[in-house]
Amino acid sequence: MSRNNNIARARAHSNIAFVKYWGNLDDDLRLPANSSISMNLAALHTTTTVEWQADRKTDSLTINGARADKSALLRVRAHLDEIRRRLEVDCRARVDSYNNFPMGTGIASSASAFASLTLAAVSALGKRMDVRALSTLARLGSGSAARSVASGFVEWRSGDSHDTSCAETFAEADHWALVDVIAVVSRSHKRVGSSAGHQTAGSSVIQSARVDSAGARLLSVKQAILQRDFELFAKTVEEDSNLMHAVMMTSRPPLFYWQPLSLTVMESVRRWRATDGLQVCYTLDAGPNVHCICAAGDAERVVDRLKALSPEIEILRSRVGGGAVVLPADPPHRERRLRK
Ligand code: PMV
Repeated sequence: MSRNNNIARARAHSNIAFVKYWGNLDDDLRLPANSSISMNLAALHTTTTVEWQADRKTDSLTINGARADKSALLRVRAHLDEIRRRLEVDCRARVDSYNNFPMGTGIASSASAFASLTLAAVSALGKRMDVRALSTLARLGSGSAARSVASGFVEWRSGDSHDTSCAETFAEADHWALVDVIAVVSRSHKRVGSSAGHQTAGSSVIQSARVDSAGARLLSVKQAILQRDFELFAKTVEEDSNLMHAVMMTSRPPLFYWQPLSLTVMESVRRWRATDGLQVCYTLDAGPNVHCICAAGDAERVVDRLKALSPEIEILRSRVGGGAVVLPADPPHRERRLRK
């Protein structure tokens, strides 16, 4: 391996799912129980530098300039092992990763982290892959990372094998001016992460009904996005989020991610839409923070109303983002934190 082309830097955005991925058919390959839909978040991204070093004995990982803890390192190492095995590489890597959004806010960073890691690792080997191939590879690190590789509004088709389970863009980022106003109601780390949650999803009696009906919601959400039909979009997105959380709450052991303030925000969002005509709906991932998806024209009003609800709510906001990209591989740089 040449010492000149073994380093690369890549950036990927986080994403928010409108039809959720919850539960796998195959945990090792992260083949999901159902197909899902998401949009990338322009303002929330991870930038990762990978350098393959022939004389290195072990992989290393820093996150935001500090040495990562053991569990993060093990997960990244397992993903690098997959890349090594599939691309026939036998050396170790130095990995430096920066999130521009505050860590520990419960905003999932694994999607942007593994999408940027995958693209940087592959590029540092001097290889080129199309979006589908990169998406399948990123999926092995974190399911939702498969969606962060592609740009804008993305569909991840579940597939039935490693090569057929990948995500693709179905509408570009400028297709519909939606904004994700994230009501951060808790900064605490989730006790049960999504990888563990996927493994217990099948223990809920509701999971099979959720999975069986996911295809119909996917068609509705896709149609709503393509036709910019906010009413259909809002109704289906909220139902899908509620169904996923119903599965979580009825799994063995049960998982409760909602907090009292999450419910206050969810009820308010429904009221603002039903009685005040604001184009806003909610969806929650594996955490208590509420993603308020709104038409760009209503985002400022939604922010003001959330602030008025409780002084405990912190707000992040993002427009629709692009896909994963390779950046010039400069020496480690300081990432600017997202302004709240
Ligand atoms: O990619 P993971 O394993 O972190 O799972 C993501 C699960 C949810 O965020 C709850 C839903 C989704 O589709 O993103």
